[in-house]
Amino acid sequence: MAEMKQAPAGASAGEKFMTWVDNRFPATKLWNEHVGDYYAPKNFNFWYFFGSLALLVLVIQIVTGIFLVMNYKPDANLAFASVEYIMRDVPWGWLIRYMHSTGASAFFVVVYLHMYRGLIYGSYRTPRELVWIFGCLIFLALMAEAFMGYLLPWGQMSFWGAQVIINLFAAVPFIGPDLAILIRGDFVVGDATLNRFFSLHVIAVPLVLLGLVVAHIIALHEVGSNNPDGVEIKQGPKDANGKPLDGIPFHPYYSVHDLLGVVGFLIVFSAVIFFAPEFGGYFLERPNFIPADPFKTPAHIAPVWYFTPFYSMLRATTDLMVNVLAVIIAVGAVLNLIKGQGKSKIVGVVIAAVVIGLLKTFEAKFWGVAVMGGAVVILVGLPWLDKSPVKSIRYRPSWHKLVYGVFVINFVILGYLGVQPPSPTGELVSQVGTLIYFGFFVLMPWWSQLGTFKPVPDRVTFKPH
Ligand code: HEM
Repeated sequence: MAEMKQAPAGASAGEKFMTWVDNRFPATKLWNEHVGDYYAPKNFNFWYFFGSLALLVLVIQIVTGIFLVMNYKPDANLAFASVEYIMRDVPWGWLIRYMHSTGASAFFVVVYLHMYRGLIYGSYRTPRELVWIFGCLIFLALMAEAFMGYLLPWGQMSFWGAQVIINLFAAVPFIGPDLAILIRGDFVVGDATLNRFFSLHVIAVPLVLLGLVVAHIIALHEVGSNNPDGVEIKQGPKDANGKPLDGIPFHPYYSVHDLLGVVGFLIVFSAVIFFAPEFGGYFLERPNFIPADPFKTPAHIAPVWYFTPFYSMLRATTDLMVNVLAVIIAVGAVLNLIKGQGKSKIVGVVIAAVVIGLLKTFEAKFWGVAVMGGAVVILVGLPWLDKSPVKSIRYRPSWHKLVYGVFVINFVILGYLGVQPPSPTGELVSQVGTLIYFGFFVLMPWWSQLGTFKPVPDRVTFKPH
């Protein structure tokens, strides 16, 4: 047992209490490690608001979720009416419900911006690979959480959206049909599906999310935060106490700084809740104000906006697209045969032959699912795909900004097309968009090294306001 500390003579009641606690639980130690004595680079900018905002939205979702569950009924016969009851009869129920539905979209806005920051400042690179990987797992869990939450109001779009997405799993070779039944708990989306989605949405996935967020932050605090210059402050000069000269304690500097982000966020968040909670049908889709009807398919089934870039990639994967992919792989193998050396030539041809064989063996619907999943999973590889000698976009060749710009615009276009009903032009554009999306990552080991890089300063750049 560690030796008990004594509060100094003349200590206040508060100090005595904290000494008592610290002898039994490392409260002060944890506070210092993660807040009071956590040194963060002093040059954080706008982009660094979104981590703390993601935490805020997580708390909002959990708290409003707890109150929703008090009146919601996870029963196919009662669910829709119970949401209407919350909206009309439960005191402040409308506010809680709109906070939760707007919170879902806000979560994705914040997390997409948070991920974009990581992308432009190379925050995923050594030594932050695990911070990034935990982030990717959070993103996956968040998608599962949002998908299952959307079934709960049991509206037309809840029902048919789930129907479409669960049916996709049936396209997985060999286990697909059984997998779809396992997810639904029935041969059709029904009460059993609603019950299991409720259970997963309310307890299982939130627990996983919370655990992952804790791991994300522990990993970050182990290695320290990156910053807009991509300069490691721990490797820079230190003061007499060994603290980095380019760092400042998180509290009070960034606790107050983050408060500014929170105020800005809450202004926008409240404006949406009070003035445009449906957000033109993007946050709450119109068909979802009609109770689920298994006999009436809505004219156009579209997922909520945050899924649509990935949904577009799924729809883009037609037979034609699979053939184009096969040709691209064949061309890659031939180029490797001409330019490669030794064994790698043969290995390249064998891998290409196997992949093309697989591509042609399974139906395009399955590859659509694989492309959609792959679009998320490929993010995990980013730390190893990026071979640029510098981390931050600030010191990369200027044309790299163009590459990132094209990537973002392409992602937004894919998102737009995913909300639209299918059309031949839309299909073609999303096919090109899918190739651009994957090309960005797959070709990164090549393009990220090209061009003239700017000299990275030894210290972070910081102008006091
Ligand atoms: C519930 C969702 C999430 C929460 C609550 C969360 C929370 C945080 C917090 C509080 C920070 C430190 C403050 C900051 O740097 O902004 C952080 C940093 C970071 N997060 Fe997240 N995060 C989430 C999701 C993600 C996702 C989806 C990714 C990427 C796939 C990600 C990647 C990162 C990276 C790379 C850093 C380090 C950034 C740097 O030091 O420059 N996070 N996160």
